[in-house]
Amino acid sequence: MKIFIDSADIAEIKEAAGMGFLDGCTTNPSLLAKTGRRIEDAIPEICEIVNGPVSAEVVATEYEPMLREGRSLAKLHKNVVVKVPSLVDGFRAVRALRSEEIRVNVTLCFSPLQAMLAGKMGATYISPFLGRIDDVSEDGMDLVRQIVRIYSNYGFPTQILAASIRSPLHVLRAAELGAHCATMPLSVIRQLSRHPLTDAGLAKFLADAKRRS
Ligand code: E4P
Repeated sequence: MKIFIDSADIAEIKEAAGMGFLDGCTTNPSLLAKTGRRIEDAIPEICEIVNGPVSAEVVATEYEPMLREGRSLAKLHKNVVVKVPSLVDGFRAVRALRSEEIRVNVTLCFSPLQAMLAGKMGATYISPFLGRIDDVSEDGMDLVRQIVRIYSNYGFPTQILAASIRSPLHVLRAAELGAHCATMPLSVIRQLSRHPLTDAGLAKFLADAKRRS
């Protein structure tokens, strides 16, 4: 599974990139607003740190403005993937941008039919928002399961990018279902490699090693 960081914070992105297993980054308007930076300034800097796809989201909601914004975001850096919302105009924009060889991530996906349309239009990534579905007492994993099946039925090459991840368990379950990628906050990335028995076992090994030397 490809591991992406969901952040626009340069210090966080540097820390995650330094771990060696980071494959990409996703941003959104809320994450950028937290940094107080303009997208045109932040995205090229993130792209120089992350050796992989970096999603930059349009704020236009209509087809033509979305295309214009998508094209200008794509010009910021070769790593940029343009993020468009799961709307009719967004799906139309996917096809147009893909025909110009611009990679597209369809975001704010909450239904299998939205995912089917994204696949049909040739999206590079589909982002089901697991945590936000769980927040309204439904099971985000059901959506991943449905998308995996639909994409396999039709042979869509669109990659499933599990998003709105809240815990390592979300990552595990999405990986078991075959999601290609997961994007998560730095706090979750830090937890991926941890286990208390590893820490306890290591402490014992190190103490024993010291005794023998
Ligand atoms: C994904 O691309 C989004 O930026 C993100 O995962 C949203 O997560 P949230 O629900 O924690 O805001």
